[in-house]
Amino acid sequence: MVAIVPAAGSGERLGAGRPKALVTVAGDPMVVRAVAGLVSAGVDDVVVVAPADHLDEMRSVLPAPARTVAGGADRVASVALGLAAIGDADVVLVHDAARCLCPADVTRAVVAAVRDGHGAVVPALPVADTVRRVDPAGRLVGPVDRTGLLAVQTPQGFAPDVLRRAHEAAAGSPTASRATDDAGLVEALGGEVVTVPGDPRAFKITTPLDLAMAEALLTAGDVSDGPPLAPDVRERSSPHGAEVRR
Ligand code: CTP
Ligand code: MG
Repeated sequence: MVAIVPAAGSGERLGAGRPKALVTVAGDPMVVRAVAGLVSAGVDDVVVVAPADHLDEMRSVLPAPARTVAGGADRVASVALGLAAIGDADVVLVHDAARCLCPADVTRAVVAAVRDGHGAVVPALPVADTVRRVDPAGRLVGPVDRTGLLAVQTPQGFAPDVLRRAHEAAAGSPTASRATDDAGLVEALGGEVVTVPGDPRAFKITTPLDLAMAEALLTAGDVSDGPPLAPDVRERSSPHGAEVRR
């Protein structure tokens, strides 16, 4: 089982002045935490896609089995460069370095669904916020039915040929190059994408607030394998209100 870890972004919204994947969370770079999470879920080959001008730094922080290749101008290009570097595998995962607190159970569920015969699998959670669509001038143009919406996370899992075909089709397409995940490229080809339950801890560190939340979760010790923090699961797992920990 192989994982591609896109980590070549600049982290504009975090504003740390360096590539986001190298920013530390409770002492360890995000990319190191993301790779460790994948390895703990049984991934034995990891290709990290790094900013071309930070290859050496990325290599110096990443232990085996991670290998490092240079990334591209957008996420789709970076994943395609990672895909070109992988060998044979029954499952290919694509996992954002920025979702570095994702519990191993989520990864295992994605892998199991691919091994069950699904060509494309994403972890997803219900959307908690009220969502509205706006026109180009920023005016609200109507409600969106939240019951039909899911927030999609990573790792996303694929049969290798499904992911390769999706990226071949995306290459050179201006619309596809703006895609923020890989399952979307499969869907664009008419491919089926199935979901498994995501986890709040698989959130993407995007802004300084996200980074502070990640630090707080690590300090609280609430980030490794175990039940998700979602209230319904907490109630089921912990009927007497005891703390839910690994
Ligand atoms: N990514 C990548 N190559 C790019 C752009 C993004 O590998 N050219 C990766 C990021 O490193 C990150 C993941 O894709 O792990 C999700 O992207 P995002 O959260 O948008 O990260 P950044 O692009 O770094 O952040 P920003 O958009 O705020 O600049
Ligand atoms: Mg980005």
